[in-house]
Amino acid sequence: PYSWYREMRSSHPVYFDPKQKVWNVFLYRDVERVLSDYHLFSSKNDRKLSSFPVIGKEERSLTSMDPPLHSKRRGLVAKAFTPKSLKTWEPRIATVAQYWLDQIREQDTIDLVYDLAIPLPVTVIAELLGVPASDWKQFKLWSDAIISPGSRDTYAESVKERTQALKEMADYLLPIIRQKRSRPTDDIISDLTIAELEGERLSDEEIIYFGIGLLFAGNETTTRLISNAFYCFLIDQPAAYPLLRKELSLIPKAVEEVLRYRSPAQFMMRRVAQDTNVFGAEMKEGESIIAWIGSANHDEEHFVQAEQFDLNRPNNQQHLSFGKGTHFCLGAPLARMEASIGLTEFMKRYSRLILPEQWSLSENLGQRGFLAKFPVRVER
Ligand code: HEM
Repeated sequence: PYSWYREMRSSHPVYFDPKQKVWNVFLYRDVERVLSDYHLFSSKNDRKLSSFPVIGKEERSLTSMDPPLHSKRRGLVAKAFTPKSLKTWEPRIATVAQYWLDQIREQDTIDLVYDLAIPLPVTVIAELLGVPASDWKQFKLWSDAIISPGSRDTYAESVKERTQALKEMADYLLPIIRQKRSRPTDDIISDLTIAELEGERLSDEEIIYFGIGLLFAGNETTTRLISNAFYCFLIDQPAAYPLLRKELSLIPKAVEEVLRYRSPAQFMMRRVAQDTNVFGAEMKEGESIIAWIGSANHDEEHFVQAEQFDLNRPNNQQHLSFGKGTHFCLGAPLARMEASIGLTEFMKRYSRLILPEQWSLSENLGQRGFLAKFPVRVER
C-alpha cells in the first residue's frame, strides 16, 4: 500500500471516494486530528457484538463509544493496565516466550509466524488473565475458533464453531472469575474484579466480555507486529538482525521503528459527527472517514526519510500505530513488552536466520493478521 499512500499524500491528501462514499485522509497531521478529535469524528456505532450472544447481554466495545460513556468504561478496565501490573508481567511474558521456543528446540527450520508470532500473544493474554499454563493449548484453540473462523468450509459452520468456542470459553472463565473475586491474585481478572469507579464494579459477564475482547484487540495486531519485526530485520534491513543480537538493549527502540514502518493496523474508521469544514473539505454529518495510519507514519513532513527503515530514527515513537487521544491503545505497553521480550528470547537462541530461496508473503491491508507462513532455517 505504501506507494499508493505516497501518491495520495501528494495528489489527494483529503479524498472523498464517491463509490464507497467515504472520506480518506493520508497526512500525519490530519490522521492525528481524526483519531483524537472525537467531537468532530465519532467512534460511536450501533454495531452490537452479535458474536457474544452467550453472555446474554448486549455489549459494545470501547472502540465504538465516545466520551463520556467511553471514559467511564475505559477508566474501569484501565485499572488492570497499571505500571504496577506491568512490572509483574515482564517475567511472565518471558516464561511464555520460552515455553513456545522450547516446543521448537529440536527444529532446524521454524516458522516465525506459526511457531512464535501466533501462539505468543494469545497465551500471554491467557497467562495475564490468570489461566493456568496447562490450559494454554486449549485456550489457543478457542481463540483460533473465535478470532479466525475461516477454517471451516462454510460460513455457517464457522459461525457455529465460533459460537461454540465462545460459550466454552465463557463457561471456563466464569468459575475462575468467581474464585478470584473471593481470593484475588496478581492478574488482570483479579484486578478487574476489584476495580471500582463511582461506586460501580464490573459484573462477571462484563469481565468475561472484556477478557475475550482482549483477544480480539490484542492478538492479530501483536502477531503482526512480531512478524513484521522479523520482516524488517531480515528483509528491509538485513544488517539489523546481527546488530540487534549483539546489542539486545536496542530491541525496544527497534520495535518502535517496526511499528512506524510497518504498522500492524493500517487504518481506523470514524464518522463525521456534524457538518463541518475541516482540511479544506465540506464534510457532512454521518459520512464515514478513514484515517490512514500507515500513510501518516510514512509522511515525510513528519519523519525525515520516512520511507527508510532506520533503527536510529530519533522520533520514531511518534508513530500513530496505537492511535491517538482518548482511544489510544490500552494494550500498547503490553504489546511493546511482548514483542521486545519475544524477540530478545528468540535472538538469544539463534545466531542467524536463513530465508528459503523461494518464498512469498501476502500482506493484507488493515488489521488482518500477517498470517502467511514465514519459514526460516536457523543457526544456533
Ligand atoms: C485500541 C492498535 C495491541 C487493547 C487500539 C487502537 C489502535 C490499536 C490503533 C485505537 C483504536 C481507535 O482509535 O479507534 C494496536 C496495535 C497493537 C495492539 C498495533 C499491537 C501491536 C493491543 C493489546 C491489547 C490492546 C495487546 C490488550 C491486551 C486495546 C483496547 C483498545 C485498543 C482495549 C480500545 C481503547 C479505547 O477505545 O479506549 N489499539 N493494539 N491492544 N487496543 Fe490495541
